[in-house]
Amino acid sequence: MKITFSTAELPSTGAIAVTAFDARQLSDSAKRLDKLTGGALGRAVAGGRFKGGRGEILELLAPGGLDNGRVMVVGLGKREALDALGAQAVGGALVARLANSGEQAVTLLLDPLSAENISDADFAAHIGYAGLLRSYRFDKYFTKKTADEKPSLAKLTVASAAAAAARKAFAPLEKIAEGVFLTRDLVSEPANVIYPASLAEQCRKLTAQGVKVEVLGEAEMHKLGMGALLGVGQGSVRESKLVIMQWRGGKAKDAPVAFVGKGVTFDTGGISIKPAGGMEEMKWDMGGAGAVIGLMKALAGRKAKVNAVGVVGLVENMPDGAAQRPGDVVTTMSGQTVEVLNTDAEGRLVLADALWYTQGRFQPKFMVNLATLTGAIIVGLGHEYAGLFSNNDELAERLASAGLATGEKLWRMPLGEAYDKMINSDIADMQNIGADRSAGSITAAQFLQRFVNNVPWAHLDIAGTAWTKRDQATVPKGGTGYGVRLLDRLVAAYYE
Ligand code: BES
Ligand code: MN
Ligand code: ZN
Repeated sequence: MKITFSTAELPSTGAIAVTAFDARQLSDSAKRLDKLTGGALGRAVAGGRFKGGRGEILELLAPGGLDNGRVMVVGLGKREALDALGAQAVGGALVARLANSGEQAVTLLLDPLSAENISDADFAAHIGYAGLLRSYRFDKYFTKKTADEKPSLAKLTVASAAAAAARKAFAPLEKIAEGVFLTRDLVSEPANVIYPASLAEQCRKLTAQGVKVEVLGEAEMHKLGMGALLGVGQGSVRESKLVIMQWRGGKAKDAPVAFVGKGVTFDTGGISIKPAGGMEEMKWDMGGAGAVIGLMKALAGRKAKVNAVGVVGLVENMPDGAAQRPGDVVTTMSGQTVEVLNTDAEGRLVLADALWYTQGRFQPKFMVNLATLTGAIIVGLGHEYAGLFSNNDELAERLASAGLATGEKLWRMPLGEAYDKMINSDIADMQNIGADRSAGSITAAQFLQRFVNNVPWAHLDIAGTAWTKRDQATVPKGGTGYGVRLLDRLVAAYYE
């Protein structure tokens, strides 16, 4: 969808949208339209349940006095509460409402807001950003849809006196959205299309934006001693890959920040096989890697002034004559050994080697890893928050506040020695699951912590947030792109 900003007024075609604050307070533009429509707008507002709450929408079809097909009144909520997320709720709701309406364009007339917490330009920019994010579709595999069955809305114009500044504020947001879209595309693609080698090829495309991309195959990983990652992929006919992406927008001598992703392109569970029902969802078990790739695109796209490294471990977890067995002992790149009691606890094995490699090669300021790691985090937090585990309070607090600012929320979970002991093994340095299911997300995090070598580190368990079954303000159902906005914000707020 095309997003534009203008100072021009009433459009002669397409839908017009105007705003109202809470308690049915019409904006000046809304009052003007009320006059132009001979009072129709005011009567519609007075006669219904529309109150002007954040994201509420009232729709008037073909009101007299105008050539436009429809007028929308969108609620902004309370003036004191206006902020970026509020703007996003409004922009997302407006675009969602009109997406399949038959309208091709909408112009939102945004009057001066006098808001305490956000400028008119930023408010306008975030409306455009949200409209863009919500307009995302993954529809490439539909071959039979008629024009009438496809979305009609193709353009959102935000008309504001602050248009020039809004356009400027929108430019980096558009780049972030491009990163989010890449993540959503990668997560939505089925596993016959996205497998380690093809996902690595997608990473390579980032070279066009100035990202340095290296791809390691199995022979190279074998030399490095990555027995844990390789063990997971050994039952697949698809070769495992490790991709290293570098964006160097900061000072030459500055240590980079590092992001590491679990990229299990399909997780059958391996020999500890998963039940058939719902297994198709495991195509998005590369959501952590997808987020890291989208983040690198966003950072490069907006030319972030930071040195950033993205490392993704790409494997397919399959049952096969060559697959690893429950009880196998593997040696990780760190030298530590792991008894693989359950081949379905594979993400931590992939990350163990990816994390160790990342800290050893780059000595980063911090490492943040993202992974659809445990079903247990969904039991604990549902789909509202991702789980946050960290060995560093400052990093954890920065992440949590980036989460609040972007709406990609995090809830911190504990780590500790008592949990750590739960993964000690009888025959190796550790086992890849606890003795029972208790504290399943925490024991997974403890496992990862054994591979970070005391570098400031956070693990984000995104099993509940990488995919959504219901539409949200800026996220249509499907792959969410969770993590891109969050980590872009972390970088922008604290490391640029
Ligand atoms: N990829 C899954 C976790 C998952 C489950 C993500 C549901 C999204 C939705 C992970 O590899 C896994 O299978 N974890 C096991 C761990 C268990 C064997 C200790 C789990 O959560 O059941
Ligand atoms: Mn698994
Ligand atoms: Zn998995």
